[in-house]
Amino acid sequence: MIEVDLADPSFQANPHPAYAEWRRSGPIRRTRLPSGLTAWLVTRYDDARRALADPRLSKQSAFSVGSSAAANRPSGPAAILSRHMLAADPPDHTRLRRLVSAAFTARRIESLRPRIEEITRDLLDAIEGKDRVDLIDTFAFPLPIQVICELLGVPADDRDAFRDWSNVIVAGSQSGDRLEPAIRAMVGYILALIAERRSSPGPDLLSGLIQVRDSEDRLTEEELSSMVFLLLIAGHETTVNLIGNGSYLLLRDRSQWDLLRTGKELMPSAIEEFLRYEGPVETSTFRVATEDLEIGGTVIRAGEPVVIVLLSANRDEDRFPDAGTLRLDRAQNPHLAFGHGIHYCLGAPLARLEAQIAFTQLMDRHPDLRLAVPAEDLRWRPGLLLRGLHELPVVL
Ligand code: HEM
Repeated sequence: MIEVDLADPSFQANPHPAYAEWRRSGPIRRTRLPSGLTAWLVTRYDDARRALADPRLSKQSAFSVGSSAAANRPSGPAAILSRHMLAADPPDHTRLRRLVSAAFTARRIESLRPRIEEITRDLLDAIEGKDRVDLIDTFAFPLPIQVICELLGVPADDRDAFRDWSNVIVAGSQSGDRLEPAIRAMVGYILALIAERRSSPGPDLLSGLIQVRDSEDRLTEEELSSMVFLLLIAGHETTVNLIGNGSYLLLRDRSQWDLLRTGKELMPSAIEEFLRYEGPVETSTFRVATEDLEIGGTVIRAGEPVVIVLLSANRDEDRFPDAGTLRLDRAQNPHLAFGHGIHYCLGAPLARLEAQIAFTQLMDRHPDLRLAVPAEDLRWRPGLLLRGLHELPVVL
């Protein structure tokens, strides 16, 4: 059994060989995380799918376990940032999710298509005529941000500051001393946003949530701030990696780029394959066993934390034929990149639509796009929660 340092840049550059070895050597393993917390990592597909939907693995209790050490959850002044649906069990989870689910149905999201197409066009206009750009900075990052900000009713002007705090927060303990100030800044920013919207409401989602809070009392003030935090973080940190990782996969092997560019009917299956093969979210958030239970024949004791490695489950050879090969036309693709069970990603239809528009327009406008550096030189972001590139320099 190989031992790896999960915080080591070489592991982060390519964690797949280690995960493959773990899947082979045993169903789950107890591992010390970069945060110092020890957790069970679930790496095989069937175990992962079952664990994601297991009501005995609680999100709410995960907050009371080693909260200051937990890699992907703020603590202290940031307790306000941990009252959201992804940190809740039923019935709170059900109540919180229901408050916003209508805004994220496939039908409602489809109605945003013209506006998302326009935002995408504007971003591509802005880089027109340039020779070399960072595709993350100029395209993959600003597109989802602008969309989620408009949906919520939040000015996009502060997005650079927000991006810094958000990056620091999701890298958790690997951010060191920068973590607490970033959390404080983020909390202050969200409270100011809510105060501003409260005094001048609009037709947006945030104003709607404030209305629910103030008139119907179905949401506490902390839950309101926490909901805004979750939606903004989800909008900032995930779809950027779907567009970024997908572009990387296409550009490191141009035959894939050309295959999709000339066969756009493959777009839906290609996007699912990007999600499976190099998904934006590496691991689930923490869950904690509320009673003794078994995963893959190993007993997990009540109170022990469990993390599901989505990236590993999605490369499980027992579930996906030819799992280690990118196949843009893969027909059966029940990947777990958006999770599974009651916490299944609320934003999945939005992420899929943004990716579809982004890849279509990018390939139409820049059919000869190529990497500006060797693929091996690209740097991956730290932290176990997300899988994405620092930058993706391309020649237009
Ligand atoms: C490609 C992009 C995205 C990926 C791969 C992704 C992935 C995930 C995953 C894996 C989970 C479940 C985590 C767990 O069970 O521990 C989740 C939950 C969630 N995601 Fe996404 N997400 C993406 C985009 C978005 C976007 C754009 C939003 C927009 C608002 C969003 C909002 C949420 C919310 C609110 C939850 C919590 C749902 C609940 O607890 O019921 N996500 N996402």
